[in-house]
Amino acid sequence: MDELPLSRTYRFIEPGPVVLVATLHKERINIMTMSYHMVVQDGNQPLIGCIIGPWDHSFEALQETGECVIAIPTVDLASTVVEIGNCSGDEIDKFKTFGLTAMRARKVKPPLLAECLVNLECRVFDTSLVDKYNFFILAVVKAWIDPDRKERRTIHHNGDGTFVVDGEILNLREKMIKWPDYL
Ligand SMILES: Cc1cc2nc3c(=O)[nH]c(=O)nc-3n(C[C@H](O)[C@H](O)[C@H](O)COP(=O)(O)O)c2cc1C
Repeated sequence: MDELPLSRTYRFIEPGPVVLVATLHKERINIMTMSYHMVVQDGNQPLIGCIIGPWDHSFEALQETGECVIAIPTVDLASTVVEIGNCSGDEIDKFKTFGLTAMRARKVKPPLLAECLVNLECRVFDTSLVDKYNFFILAVVKAWIDPDRKERRTIHHNGDGTFVVDGEILNLREKMIKWPDYL
């Protein structure tokens, strides 16, 4: 084995799909790209952990309003997703620049994104690790999926500007004997 620099560890811990985070702050909607996120709790009260750094305009928006929408894009939006993650809402109106369509959410003020497959309305649930790790725990309070969308392949960051697109599905359901709730 060759030694792997610790800084590369992340590249091999496959994160979930790259997502977009919409906020509404001081009457302005904004959106950022995020790949550092994880499941903290599943079931009927889903909790999502995510790292949003103070270098992002979205950090202040989330801290002050306590609300966001996590929107899950598919591969057709990949290049826009990367561009959204390389500019700041401090400087531009990203909804206008990237031609995104904001839709009214039901339980939170930030908007859903019409161009995304899934939209999760979230409220900040626990900030105890924000000072130390910029780690917010969000409670999903309402979730939406676009039933008409044909393209459903999400994108996953390799940590180096390249992405893996969802592909082949392995069906191993007959082996999930301990986890019937997950079928
Ligand atoms: C693929 C990708 C993944 C990213 N993941 C994160 C992340 O998990 N957390 C974070 O704070 N920033 C992440 N970023 C960087 C933010 O999206 C970027 O700083 C953005 O400009 C913030 O926008 P804002 O200033 O409008 O909030 C990512 C960027 C890209 C391109």
